[in-house]
Amino acid sequence: MKDILSMEDLTDAQIYQLLETAEKIESEGSFPFHDQKYAANLFLEPSTRTKNSFFIAERRLGMEVMDVSGSDSSLTKGESLYDTVKTLYTIGASLCIIRQSQNGILREIANEVDVPIINAGDGTGQHPSQSLLDLYTIYQEFGGFTGIKVAIVGDIKHSRVARSNGKALERLGAEVFYASKPEWQDDSISTNYLSIDQAVELADVVMLLRIQHERHEQKAESDSYLEAFGLTEEREKKMNKNAIIMHPAPVNRGVEIAGSLVEAPRSRIFTQMKNGVTIRMAMINALLKEEL
Ligand code: NCD
Repeated sequence: MKDILSMEDLTDAQIYQLLETAEKIESEGSFPFHDQKYAANLFLEPSTRTKNSFFIAERRLGMEVMDVSGSDSSLTKGESLYDTVKTLYTIGASLCIIRQSQNGILREIANEVDVPIINAGDGTGQHPSQSLLDLYTIYQEFGGFTGIKVAIVGDIKHSRVARSNGKALERLGAEVFYASKPEWQDDSISTNYLSIDQAVELADVVMLLRIQHERHEQKAESDSYLEAFGLTEEREKKMNKNAIIMHPAPVNRGVEIAGSLVEAPRSRIFTQMKNGVTIRMAMINALLKEEL
Protein backbone atom coordinates (compact mmCIF):
# COMPACT_ATOMS: atom_id res chain seq x y z
CA MET A 1 0.00 0.00 0.00
CA LYS A 2 1.47 3.38 -1.03
CA ASP A 3 -0.89 5.74 0.83
CA ILE A 4 -3.16 5.83 3.88
CA LEU A 5 -6.17 7.87 2.80
CA SER A 6 -9.10 6.13 4.46
CA MET A 7 -9.74 3.51 7.13
CA GLU A 8 -11.60 1.61 4.44
CA ASP A 9 -8.32 1.06 2.56
CA LEU A 10 -6.87 -0.90 5.48
CA THR A 11 -7.65 -4.57 6.03
CA ASP A 12 -8.23 -5.80 9.59
CA ALA A 13 -4.79 -7.44 9.45
CA GLN A 14 -3.16 -4.13 8.43
CA ILE A 15 -4.92 -2.32 11.27
CA TYR A 16 -3.62 -4.88 13.78
CA GLN A 17 -0.16 -4.67 12.22
CA LEU A 18 -0.09 -0.91 12.90
CA LEU A 19 -1.44 -1.31 16.45
CA GLU A 20 1.17 -3.97 17.21
CA THR A 21 3.99 -1.85 15.75
CA ALA A 22 2.86 1.07 17.91
CA GLU A 23 2.86 -1.21 20.96
CA LYS A 24 6.36 -2.39 20.14
CA ILE A 25 7.64 1.17 19.64
CA GLU A 26 6.16 2.13 22.98
CA SER A 27 7.43 -0.87 24.94
CA GLU A 28 10.91 -1.01 23.41
CA GLY A 29 11.34 2.75 23.15
CA SER A 30 13.46 2.22 20.04
CA PHE A 31 12.51 2.66 16.43
CA PRO A 32 13.88 2.66 12.91
CA PHE A 33 15.77 5.66 11.69
CA HIS A 34 14.99 7.33 8.36
CA ASP A 35 17.62 10.05 8.16
CA GLN A 36 17.98 11.91 4.88
CA LYS A 37 14.28 11.38 4.23
CA TYR A 38 12.10 14.48 4.00
CA ALA A 39 8.49 14.71 5.14
CA ALA A 40 6.31 17.51 3.73
CA ASN A 41 3.50 18.52 6.06
CA LEU A 42 0.75 20.43 4.26
CA PHE A 43 -1.88 21.67 6.68
CA LEU A 44 -4.44 23.80 4.89
CA GLU A 45 -6.98 23.62 7.75
CA PRO A 46 -6.27 24.47 11.41
CA SER A 47 -4.55 21.79 13.50
CA THR A 48 -2.68 21.57 16.79
CA ARG A 49 -2.47 17.88 17.74
CA THR A 50 -2.38 16.23 14.33
CA LYS A 51 0.16 18.62 12.79
CA ASN A 52 2.50 18.69 15.75
CA SER A 53 2.30 15.00 16.54
CA PHE A 54 3.16 14.21 12.91
CA PHE A 55 6.09 16.62 13.31
CA ILE A 56 7.31 14.86 16.46
CA ALA A 57 6.75 11.40 14.95
CA GLU A 58 8.79 12.38 11.86
CA ARG A 59 11.62 13.87 13.93
CA ARG A 60 11.73 10.82 16.21
CA LEU A 61 12.13 8.71 13.11
CA GLY A 62 15.09 10.87 12.16
CA MET A 63 13.36 12.60 9.24
CA GLU A 64 13.74 16.19 8.11
CA VAL A 65 10.46 18.09 8.10
CA MET A 66 9.14 20.68 5.64
CA ASP A 67 6.22 22.68 6.97
CA VAL A 68 4.11 23.85 4.03
CA SER A 69 1.17 25.78 5.39
CA GLY A 70 -1.44 27.26 3.07
CA SER A 71 -0.78 30.91 3.78
CA ASP A 72 2.89 30.97 2.76
CA SER A 73 2.84 28.49 -0.11
CA SER A 74 2.19 28.98 -3.83
CA LEU A 75 -1.32 27.61 -3.26
CA THR A 76 -2.14 31.26 -2.53
CA LYS A 77 -0.88 32.07 -6.06
CA GLY A 78 -3.39 29.71 -7.65
CA GLU A 79 -1.25 26.58 -7.83
CA SER A 80 -3.31 23.41 -7.52
CA LEU A 81 -2.77 20.94 -4.68
CA TYR A 82 -1.70 18.39 -7.29
CA ASP A 83 1.04 20.69 -8.61
CA THR A 84 2.18 21.52 -5.07
CA VAL A 85 2.44 17.83 -4.14
CA LYS A 86 4.21 17.00 -7.39
CA THR A 87 6.66 19.85 -6.75
CA LEU A 88 7.42 18.71 -3.22
CA TYR A 89 8.04 15.18 -4.48
CA THR A 90 10.25 16.45 -7.32
CA ILE A 91 12.48 18.42 -4.96
CA GLY A 92 12.90 15.46 -2.63
CA ALA A 93 9.94 14.78 -0.29
CA SER A 94 9.62 11.08 0.61
CA LEU A 95 6.21 11.51 2.20
CA CYS A 96 3.36 14.07 2.19
CA ILE A 97 1.00 14.54 5.11
CA ILE A 98 -2.02 16.55 3.96
CA ARG A 99 -4.97 18.15 5.72
CA GLN A 100 -7.43 20.05 3.52
CA SER A 101 -11.15 20.60 3.16
CA GLN A 102 -12.20 18.68 0.02
CA ASN A 103 -13.48 15.16 0.62
CA GLY A 104 -11.87 12.55 -1.58
CA ILE A 105 -9.53 14.82 -3.60
CA LEU A 106 -6.40 13.15 -2.20
CA ARG A 107 -7.27 9.88 -3.94
CA GLU A 108 -7.00 11.56 -7.36
CA ILE A 109 -3.67 13.13 -6.44
CA ALA A 110 -2.28 9.93 -4.92
CA ASN A 111 -3.09 8.02 -8.10
CA GLU A 112 -1.00 10.47 -10.14
CA VAL A 113 2.13 10.94 -8.01
CA ASP A 114 4.58 8.38 -6.67
CA VAL A 115 5.06 9.96 -3.25
CA PRO A 116 3.21 8.28 -0.33
CA ILE A 117 0.38 10.43 1.07
CA ILE A 118 -1.25 10.26 4.49
CA ASN A 119 -4.62 11.94 4.79
CA ALA A 120 -4.50 14.05 7.96
CA GLY A 121 -8.20 14.94 7.66
CA ASP A 122 -10.18 15.79 4.51
CA GLY A 123 -13.30 17.88 5.10
CA THR A 124 -16.07 15.71 6.53
CA GLY A 125 -14.48 12.67 4.88
CA GLN A 126 -11.81 10.61 6.62
CA HIS A 127 -9.16 11.01 9.32
CA PRO A 128 -7.32 7.68 9.44
CA SER A 129 -4.47 8.65 11.80
CA GLN A 130 -7.02 9.87 14.36
CA SER A 131 -9.00 6.67 13.96
CA LEU A 132 -5.92 4.50 14.41
CA LEU A 133 -4.87 6.36 17.56
CA ASP A 134 -8.41 5.95 18.90
CA LEU A 135 -8.32 2.24 18.10
CA TYR A 136 -4.91 1.98 19.76
CA THR A 137 -6.25 3.66 22.90
CA ILE A 138 -9.20 1.23 23.08
CA TYR A 139 -6.94 -1.75 22.31
CA GLN A 140 -4.57 -0.76 25.15
CA GLU A 141 -7.45 -0.29 27.56
CA PHE A 142 -9.53 -3.39 26.81
CA GLY A 143 -7.04 -5.69 25.04
CA GLY A 144 -9.23 -5.92 21.93
CA PHE A 145 -12.52 -4.85 20.37
CA THR A 146 -14.89 -7.81 20.47
CA GLY A 147 -18.09 -6.88 22.28
CA ILE A 148 -16.78 -3.48 23.42
CA LYS A 149 -19.66 -1.01 23.43
CA VAL A 150 -18.71 2.36 21.95
CA ALA A 151 -21.01 5.39 22.04
CA ILE A 152 -20.06 8.09 19.52
CA VAL A 153 -21.71 11.26 20.74
CA GLY A 154 -22.12 14.70 19.17
CA ASP A 155 -22.05 16.31 15.74
CA ILE A 156 -21.97 13.02 13.81
CA LYS A 157 -22.96 14.42 10.43
CA HIS A 158 -20.02 16.82 10.08
CA SER A 159 -17.40 14.65 11.78
CA ARG A 160 -14.67 12.85 9.86
CA VAL A 161 -13.76 11.19 13.17
CA ALA A 162 -17.21 9.54 13.42
CA ARG A 163 -17.04 8.56 9.77
CA SER A 164 -13.60 6.98 10.17
CA ASN A 165 -14.16 5.29 13.53
CA GLY A 166 -17.68 3.85 13.34
CA LYS A 167 -17.19 1.32 10.55
CA ALA A 168 -13.63 0.43 11.60
CA LEU A 169 -14.76 -0.36 15.15
CA GLU A 170 -17.70 -2.43 13.93
CA ARG A 171 -15.56 -4.43 11.58
CA LEU A 172 -13.17 -5.23 14.44
CA GLY A 173 -16.06 -6.57 16.53
CA ALA A 174 -17.14 -3.59 18.65
CA GLU A 175 -20.79 -2.68 19.12
CA VAL A 176 -21.16 0.95 18.03
CA PHE A 177 -24.10 3.24 18.72
CA TYR A 178 -24.55 6.97 18.36
CA ALA A 179 -26.19 9.88 20.16
CA SER A 180 -26.70 13.20 18.45
CA LYS A 181 -28.92 16.22 18.14
CA PRO A 182 -31.50 15.07 15.55
CA GLU A 183 -30.32 17.44 12.80
CA TRP A 184 -26.75 16.11 13.13
CA GLN A 185 -27.66 12.45 12.79
CA ASP A 186 -26.45 10.90 9.55
CA ASP A 187 -28.01 7.72 8.22
CA SER A 188 -25.08 7.18 5.86
CA ILE A 189 -22.95 6.56 8.97
CA SER A 190 -25.53 4.61 11.01
CA THR A 191 -29.20 4.39 11.90
CA ASN A 192 -28.39 3.16 15.40
CA TYR A 193 -29.12 6.32 17.42
CA LEU A 194 -29.92 6.31 21.15
CA SER A 195 -30.63 9.13 23.57
CA ILE A 196 -27.53 10.57 25.25
CA ASP A 197 -28.68 9.10 28.59
CA GLN A 198 -29.12 5.59 27.20
CA ALA A 199 -25.84 5.77 25.27
CA VAL A 200 -23.78 6.91 28.26
CA GLU A 201 -25.22 4.24 30.57
CA LEU A 202 -24.60 1.38 28.11
CA ALA A 203 -21.14 2.26 26.86
CA ASP A 204 -17.64 1.03 27.70
CA VAL A 205 -16.30 3.96 25.69
CA VAL A 206 -18.01 7.34 25.49
CA MET A 207 -16.41 9.10 22.52
CA LEU A 208 -17.38 12.74 22.41
CA LEU A 209 -17.16 15.02 19.39
CA ARG A 210 -16.88 18.79 19.13
CA ILE A 211 -19.63 20.77 17.38
CA GLN A 212 -18.09 21.34 13.93
CA HIS A 213 -19.13 25.01 13.66
CA GLU A 214 -16.81 25.62 10.70
CA ARG A 215 -18.87 23.16 8.62
CA HIS A 216 -22.29 24.58 9.52
CA GLU A 217 -24.21 27.04 7.44
CA GLN A 218 -25.92 28.52 10.50
CA LYS A 219 -24.25 29.13 13.85
CA ALA A 220 -25.36 26.40 16.27
CA GLU A 221 -26.49 27.33 19.77
CA SER A 222 -23.84 26.24 22.32
CA ASP A 223 -25.39 27.54 25.58
CA SER A 224 -27.96 24.83 26.26
CA TYR A 225 -26.03 22.09 24.46
CA LEU A 226 -24.28 20.45 27.44
CA GLU A 227 -27.49 19.80 29.38
CA ALA A 228 -29.36 18.50 26.34
CA PHE A 229 -26.70 16.53 24.46
CA GLY A 230 -23.35 16.60 26.27
CA LEU A 231 -21.53 14.67 29.00
CA THR A 232 -22.55 16.40 32.23
CA GLU A 233 -21.20 15.45 35.68
CA GLU A 234 -24.57 13.78 36.41
CA ARG A 235 -24.38 11.62 33.30
CA GLU A 236 -20.76 10.67 34.02
CA LYS A 237 -21.86 9.26 37.40
CA LYS A 238 -24.08 6.80 35.53
CA MET A 239 -21.28 5.44 33.35
CA ASN A 240 -20.15 1.83 33.85
CA LYS A 241 -17.44 1.32 36.44
CA ASN A 242 -14.64 0.67 33.95
CA ALA A 243 -15.94 2.84 31.12
CA ILE A 244 -13.67 5.50 29.66
CA ILE A 245 -14.16 8.94 28.12
CA MET A 246 -12.50 9.77 24.81
CA HIS A 247 -12.46 12.91 22.64
CA PRO A 248 -10.27 13.65 19.60
CA ALA A 249 -9.96 17.28 20.77
CA PRO A 250 -9.91 20.25 20.49
CA VAL A 251 -12.28 20.13 23.47
CA ASN A 252 -14.78 22.89 24.09
CA ARG A 253 -15.10 22.64 27.88
CA GLY A 254 -18.62 23.22 29.09
CA VAL A 255 -20.11 22.56 25.63
CA GLU A 256 -19.86 18.87 24.66
CA ILE A 257 -18.28 17.88 28.00
CA ALA A 258 -18.32 19.35 31.52
CA GLY A 259 -14.94 21.06 32.03
CA SER A 260 -14.18 19.04 35.17
CA LEU A 261 -14.43 15.72 33.28
CA VAL A 262 -11.61 16.45 30.82
CA GLU A 263 -9.07 15.37 33.48
CA ALA A 264 -11.37 12.86 35.25
CA PRO A 265 -9.71 9.52 36.21
CA ARG A 266 -11.66 7.78 33.47
CA SER A 267 -10.74 10.32 30.79
CA ARG A 268 -8.24 9.09 28.19
CA ILE A 269 -8.16 12.38 26.26
CA PHE A 270 -4.48 13.07 26.96
CA THR A 271 -3.57 9.39 26.48
CA GLN A 272 -5.09 9.68 23.00
CA MET A 273 -2.79 12.64 22.22
CA LYS A 274 0.27 10.72 23.41
CA ASN A 275 -0.79 7.65 21.42
CA GLY A 276 -1.13 9.90 18.37
CA VAL A 277 2.66 10.29 18.15
CA THR A 278 3.30 6.55 18.46
CA ILE A 279 0.70 5.45 15.94
CA ARG A 280 1.89 8.07 13.44
CA MET A 281 5.44 6.73 13.78
CA ALA A 282 4.07 3.25 13.03
CA MET A 283 2.14 4.55 9.98
CA ILE A 284 5.08 6.50 8.53
CA ASN A 285 7.53 3.67 9.10
CA ALA A 286 5.23 1.15 7.44
CA LEU A 287 4.83 3.33 4.33
CA LEU A 288 8.51 4.24 4.02
CA LYS A 289 9.57 0.62 4.39
CA GLU A 290 6.73 -0.54 2.12
CA GLU A 291 5.62 -2.96 4.82
CA LEU A 292 1.86 -2.41 4.59
C1 NCD B 1 -10.47 16.41 14.83
C2 NCD B 1 -10.49 16.80 13.36
O1 NCD B 1 -9.69 17.63 12.92
O2 NCD B 1 -11.29 16.21 12.67
N1 NCD B 1 -9.36 16.92 15.52
C3 NCD B 1 -8.17 16.27 15.52
O3 NCD B 1 -7.60 15.96 14.48
N2 NCD B 1 -7.66 15.91 16.71
C4 NCD B 1 -11.74 16.72 15.52
C5 NCD B 1 -12.25 18.12 15.55
O4 NCD B 1 -11.70 19.04 14.94
O5 NCD B 1 -13.26 18.32 16.22
